[in-house]
Amino acid sequence: MKKYQLNTKTGTSDILICESFEKLQEHTAGKKIVILTDEQIFALQGERFPDVSIIRIPQGEQAKSLGRTTLLYQELVRLGVDRSDMLVAVGGGVICDLGGFVATTFQRGIGLSFVPTTLLAQVDAAIGGKNGVNLGKYKNMVGTFRQPSFVLIDPSFLKTLPENEFISGLAEVVKYGLISDPGILALIEGKTPREISGDHDLLTELIERSVRAKVAVVTQDEEDRGLRRILNFGHTYGHGIERLYELPHGKAVAYGMVVAVDISIQLGLAEDMLRKRIFTLLKNLELLPDIKPDQEKVMELISHDKKKKGKEIPFVLLKDAGKTVIRPLSPDKIMDLLKNIKLFTI
Ligand SMILES: NC(=O)c1ccc[n+]([C@@H]2O[C@H](COP(=O)([O-])OP(=O)(O)OC[C@H]3O[C@@H](n4cnc5c(N)ncnc54)[C@H](O)[C@@H]3O)[C@@H](O)[C@H]2O)c1
Repeated sequence: MKKYQLNTKTGTSDILICESFEKLQEHTAGKKIVILTDEQIFALQGERFPDVSIIRIPQGEQAKSLGRTTLLYQELVRLGVDRSDMLVAVGGGVICDLGGFVATTFQRGIGLSFVPTTLLAQVDAAIGGKNGVNLGKYKNMVGTFRQPSFVLIDPSFLKTLPENEFISGLAEVVKYGLISDPGILALIEGKTPREISGDHDLLTELIERSVRAKVAVVTQDEEDRGLRRILNFGHTYGHGIERLYELPHGKAVAYGMVVAVDISIQLGLAEDMLRKRIFTLLKNLELLPDIKPDQEKVMELISHDKKKKGKEIPFVLLKDAGKTVIRPLSPDKIMDLLKNIKLFTI
C-alpha cells in the first residue's frame, strides 16, 4: 500500500493506493460507519462488505439528485447517525459525488470517506473534494468542497467492472498523461484495454501516477479558480458531443482531447506530430467514436454552457504532452478552427 496526502483549506485527505477493502475499518478511527453503495456493486461485491449498516440505492446518474439526497438524510436520521459517525461511499463517481454531498450537508457535516470502485472514480472523481448533485439537466449544479478523511483505492474492485466502463476511465488516465505526466502515455502506447486491465502492475502504476497528477493540481487550486481548470482538458468540446450524440463520457472526452490537440496545432502552439500520437493512442484504446459532429450544433451547446462567463470560452490547449496553456477564444474563432480540423485524415 502507498499513501499520498492531499492538504487543502478544507482538510487533509489520505489517499491509500492498493489498500484492501477488507482493511477498511483500520482507517475509520473507531467511528461508527454507514456505507452508501449502489445495487449493482452490492450484487457483485456485497460479500466483501463489513457487517455495518449499508444503504443501497439504484445505480445510475439519476441518483445524483436533490430528491435522492432527501431520502438519504431521512435514512441517516432513521439509523441514528450523528456528527461523530462516518459515511463511507463505496462506488463510482455517482456514489462518491452524492455521498460526499450528503455527508457534508447532513447535520452540517459528518465524517466522510470514499472507496472508489470504477477506474474513473479511482483516478479522478474520488480525488479532490468536489461533491455534488445535478439540478434537473444541469450537472453538478449544487455541491460542496470538502476532502474525505481518506480515499481507499482497491484495484481488485475493477475485476467486475464492465469493459465499457473501464475503457471510459482510461480516457481520464490519458488526460493526466497529456496535461501533466507524459510518462503515462509511454506506458500505454501500443496497448489495448484488455492488456491494461489484465496487467496488475501496470494498472496500479497508472492509477498512482494519475492520482499524483490530480493531487498536485488540487493542492494548488482546490476551488477551481485557476490551475484546476486544466483538468477540463478535452471536456469543453467533449461535454458538447456527449449531450448531442449521447456518447459515453470517456469517448466524448477522448474526441474532445483530439479536437483540443488539433486546435493547439492550428494555433501554432504544438507540433504536428502530437496529433498522430494522440490519435493512434486513443484508437488503440477503443476510445474514438465514429461520428462526424455537426460543429454548428456543438458550438451552440458549448457557448450556451459557458454563457455566463462572457463571450470568450477558456479552452485548455497543449504546447506539448505535459504542457498546458489556457486560451480564451471567441465562439467565431472556435468555429473557424473547428472547420479546419483534420480529425480523421491521418
Ligand atoms: N467530483 C469529481 O471531481 C468528479 C470528477 C469526474 C467525474 N465525476 C462524476 O462521476 C460520475 C461518473 O462516475 P462513473 O463513471 O464512476 O459512473 P458510475 O458511478 O455511474 O458507475 C458506472 C457503473 O458502473 C457500476 N459499477 C461501479 N463499480 C463497479 C464495480 N466495481 N463492478 C461492477 N460494476 C460497477 C455502477 O453500478 C454503474 O452502473 C459523473 O456523475 C461525474 O459527474 C466527478
